[in-house]
Amino acid sequence: MASSCVVSWCLVVLLCARLGLAAECHGKPSPDAKPNLNPVDTGKPKVVSSTTNGKLFTIGQGDDLVYLLHVWGSPYEMGYAHGSLLKERAQDMLNSVWSYFELQVEQAMNGTVDFLPEWFMKDVANFGLDVALDLEILATEPYTGDYFLPEIKGLADASGVNYKKIQRIHMIGELTKGACSMFGANSSATPDGTLLQLRALDWDVDGPFKNFPQITVYHPQQGNGHAFANIGWTGWIGSITGVSSQKMAISEIGVSFPDDTFGQESRFGVPFTYLLRDIIQFDSSLQSAMQRISSAHRTCDLILGVGDGKENEFRGVEYSAAVADFFVWDNLRPEATWHPKIRDIVYWGMDWLCPGYSEVLAKQLDLYHGNVTALNTIRDIVSIVQTGDLHVAVYDLSHELLYVANARGDSEQGPVYAYDRTFLQLNLTEVFSELPPSL
Ligand SMILES: *[C@@H]1O[C@H](CO)[C@@H](O)[C@H](O)[C@H]1NC(C)=O
Ligand SMILES: *[C@@H]1O[C@H](CO)[C@@H](O)[C@H](O)[C@H]1NC(C)=O
Ligand SMILES: *[C@@H]1O[C@H](CO)[C@@H](O)[C@H](O)[C@H]1NC(C)=O
Ligand SMILES: *[C@@H]1O[C@H](CO)[C@@H](O)[C@H](O)[C@H]1NC(C)=O
Repeated sequence: MASSCVVSWCLVVLLCARLGLAAECHGKPSPDAKPNLNPVDTGKPKVVSSTTNGKLFTIGQGDDLVYLLHVWGSPYEMGYAHGSLLKERAQDMLNSVWSYFELQVEQAMNGTVDFLPEWFMKDVANFGLDVALDLEILATEPYTGDYFLPEIKGLADASGVNYKKIQRIHMIGELTKGACSMFGANSSATPDGTLLQLRALDWDVDGPFKNFPQITVYHPQQGNGHAFANIGWTGWIGSITGVSSQKMAISEIGVSFPDDTFGQESRFGVPFTYLLRDIIQFDSSLQSAMQRISSAHRTCDLILGVGDGKENEFRGVEYSAAVADFFVWDNLRPEATWHPKIRDIVYWGMDWLCPGYSEVLAKQLDLYHGNVTALNTIRDIVSIVQTGDLHVAVYDLSHELLYVANARGDSEQGPVYAYDRTFLQLNLTEVFSELPPSL
């Protein structure tokens, strides 16, 4: 999951290296893609319930409902509040994700799907799925934040879902594959020069994730970072999409089609969903996020994006075990006619080598250059590029506004993909100043 947008590439890289080919992705958006004309929903969050250290709201309405959970206290207390207020939903989400992953592994065993890394499938064949995931947990444990396991423990204790199972599920992000898009636009690209950032998550809309959209707003106790919003799903505590009270936000793309500048990947290091969470929970400046990325024990091939709405700056990052290269608009790579440099915009469509999507994204960004706004991004960029099938976040950081949309859930009506659905606007000033329950 996690989108991960991550990993089959391990396999792809090996194959390409052997054959000496520079593979590219072959997808592209439909030329008949339509703008998204749904009005943005600016309604206020509605109260659902509260408990010690937790308050639950919903935003949106009808078939575009998203849970908005606020938690306070120690890592254990935050996990516990999460599991208490959303007990059944957390059970349902975690059990469905587990079954779905088991099915994918079965399909990988019999050759129906091929996106799980070779070394992982070897472990599964030799030791079974549980042990294979436990080996992955061991490989990543030294790089896992102190807060992570206590939070899982709290979530397990309150929800009744097995602790080990929740921990294993959080390895899936590192193992499965997706594709995604991002941009960071500032200065001459936006109306007032402030930063606008996109995170479009293209992953598995057949899996259970689309049924459990949730924004979890953490208000950690002193010494454990600052307030931040993790945009994902109930029961999921790693980060793929998120924004902090320091006006910083993250974007991420899983790279299946790297070039040879990425080098070899590694299995030992920090899962990227944990690294991204550390950035939104602990980093107060672009410099500290860049430092964290540079010094991390990196694993898979990714493109990351980090924005800072205090400085109105954005960096794209070529991220792999071997390299951490930072980009602004005029040193953007890969260099290709389908990936033109656009003044004050850093962007990638779906992958590193992905001409079909990148050129349409470039075209839409060019069309709106000087007027890249959240509303234009929703109406005419993600919808036309057809990116962000599972979820989309548009971060207007300096104005402290967040826009999100999610894929259609199993029992819902309307367009299938997030980029075609109603976007919900959240006022981040209000979100981060929510007061704890007075119980
Ligand atoms: C592979 O496994 C999947 C999931 O169990 C199953 O649906 C499919 O029929 C299997 N295919 C073959 C060729 O065995
Ligand atoms: C826009 O971003 C670039 C690169 O991050 C930075 O050099 C520039 O100062 C930013 N512009 C403004 C107006 O903040
Ligand atoms: C910017 O986009 C908005 C919405 O599409 C439009 O109403 C406005 O005229 C545009 N402004 C400029 C300067 O192009
Ligand atoms: C967000 O909320 C704050 C505090 O209530 C308010 O001052 C600000 O105007 C709001 N922003 C927008 C864009 O509505």
